Amino acid sequence: MVPSTTVSVAVNIDGTLYGAKDARISVFDHGYLFGEGVYEVVRTYGTRIFLYPEHMRRLRASADRIALTCPVDDEVMLGRIRETLAAAALDGDAYVRILLTRGVGEIVYDPSACPSPSVVVIVKPHADPPASALADGVRLALADIVRNHPGSVDPAIKSNNLLNNALAMQQAYREGAFEALMKNHRGELCECAQSNIFFVRNGVLLTPPASAGLLVGITRAFVLDLAAGIGVPVEECVLREDDLASVDEAFITSTTREIVPVVTIGSHTIGGGRPGPVTQSLIAAFTAAIPNHLS
Ligand code: PDD
Repeated sequence: MVPSTTVSVAVNIDGTLYGAKDARISVFDHGYLFGEGVYEVVRTYGTRIFLYPEHMRRLRASADRIALTCPVDDEVMLGRIRETLAAAALDGDAYVRILLTRGVGEIVYDPSACPSPSVVVIVKPHADPPASALADGVRLALADIVRNHPGSVDPAIKSNNLLNNALAMQQAYREGAFEALMKNHRGELCECAQSNIFFVRNGVLLTPPASAGLLVGITRAFVLDLAAGIGVPVEECVLREDDLASVDEAFITSTTREIVPVVTIGSHTIGGGRPGPVTQSLIAAFTAAIPNHLS
């Protein structure tokens, strides 16, 4: 159990609470052995979870794609998240990582070797992007590594196989960039290592389509709806590095980052090198809409 003095990080493994130091999973879990698992990252505003049904729907869709079934329903999972949040006793917003792995079994690929999937919930403090990122915009590395081919490990599966993402981020760290923008096997811009990418050109909001091979972000969908709601035309379209010269604004979206303006991508300066007005309007619309989507 979590000692009462422990704060900040708490973990729930298959329904039992642990402190950070005691949270252990077997080395025979196929999540560890083979990366066989899926996950979600949700966040709270205060104690309430943002877009919970949408995240659970995607968790189940990801699990389906690897022939894995989540053994708990949304209500039970919500109960576990709430218990874990209570154990972490955070002062502010929480980062919640939900992991579902194949479970423990013999070292063989046969799924029937693992009778029960493991369900883990990790709660830790949420960290907002630095204020300077929002005020001044960030730089993205243009990753050399190609995003996974959808016919291989499909990026639409929010999989624990994150080596592709980790390698892209290694380049970002080397270059001192905030994120890494990846291209797909056709050389089209598709998504970042941990977020989706958007552009604004001539007042139109542009983002690569799902067919580019990307994780269909919950925040991406939320922002597309917000844009429609404030009268910004939206187009999902193929974008290439050449397009970076003609876009006026860029930003990234994710659960933990909401919307972060982008002012440099690789060697390209975006727009005037300052966060643009459409990005700012969407940030304001996002903030205003949060209270209507909390569980
Ligand atoms: N990352 N693309 C990738 C590759 C991602 O890992 C993420 C999310 C997104 C944005 O998805 P969403 O809006 O649903 O968070 C896009 C999470 C936050 C993470 O792994 O920490």
